[in-house]
Amino acid sequence: MLKRLILVAGSSSSSDDPSVRRTPLLSPSGKAELSREFPGVEIDAPCPPGDEPRASVDARAWRSSALDLWALDTHLHALDARGLFGLRIEGLEPEGAARTAYEVLTRCQRFIRRRNLASASAVFARVLGRHRGLYDLDRPLVRADYDHAIDVWQWMLRLDARASAAAQAAALFHDVERLVSEADVRIEHRAPDYQAFKDEHARRGAALARSALADVGLPPEVLDRVGVLVSAHERPGDDAELALLNDADALSFFSLNSGGFLDYYGPEHTRAKVAYTLRRLRPAARALLPRIRCRPEVEAMILGEPRRTVAPAPAETQA
Ligand SMILES: [Fe+2]
Repeated sequence: MLKRLILVAGSSSSSDDPSVRRTPLLSPSGKAELSREFPGVEIDAPCPPGDEPRASVDARAWRSSALDLWALDTHLHALDARGLFGLRIEGLEPEGAARTAYEVLTRCQRFIRRRNLASASAVFARVLGRHRGLYDLDRPLVRADYDHAIDVWQWMLRLDARASAAAQAAALFHDVERLVSEADVRIEHRAPDYQAFKDEHARRGAALARSALADVGLPPEVLDRVGVLVSAHERPGDDAELALLNDADALSFFSLNSGGFLDYYGPEHTRAKVAYTLRRLRPAARALLPRIRCRPEVEAMILGEPRRTVAPAPAETQA
């Protein structure tokens, strides 16, 4: 689990000596905002002892297309499996430090695993355990789906700190159907009707989620609600929790998955996916996109799409 963020100025990136005077990289208000946004992480922590597990990110390469996020993720997965760890951002300058820290923590938020009152229960611990047990993390696409599920859950709690247990469980299980249809190879780009493919994915996923959660102790009405949310999760609609799930899912696509998506599918399908995903975002969630680090190629696709002023109506997405 990610416990601390260490910030290192560009001129002192090679020093681990805690006696070296550190340049203040964050204003008090900038540090407070990061602490609010990423609870549980000690922001701008002092350099810990040299043997504390940690990963490093170079701020000067952070927004480059060439940044090897796969290597970073692999290192983070290994650290997370062993327990608590720190994240160190090197090469920072004061004028961009808060933005970079926000982007890096957003990319790594699945290692924070925040909960709220509704998910800090023994029943929800069983929900999490049941979810984890479905995923063979040695299979790359399954690992990617597991990471996305946790990331969507974390986005949901950032967007609505009072999200219900049903909404949070739906965030975790919304793409569970991919364990059946796309665990070894993705097929969505071959679908003759993309929306119909996604609707079927959601419908089957609802049945799988209900089955997986049948005996964890959720009240029947909560289990029913999880099923409803998962079955409709590809269409925002008027339901506030459904819209929340769509916002969280779409933001996770951009913050966690879009770079790998581009590598896997290529620019043509990624451009279509970007347009589809933007349509799922409400304006307030879309307003967060400039604060999310995407590959420059994906950013260009986002900027090339028209900005909506209202969320799409259900009928609008049926075309
Ligand atoms: Fe998803």
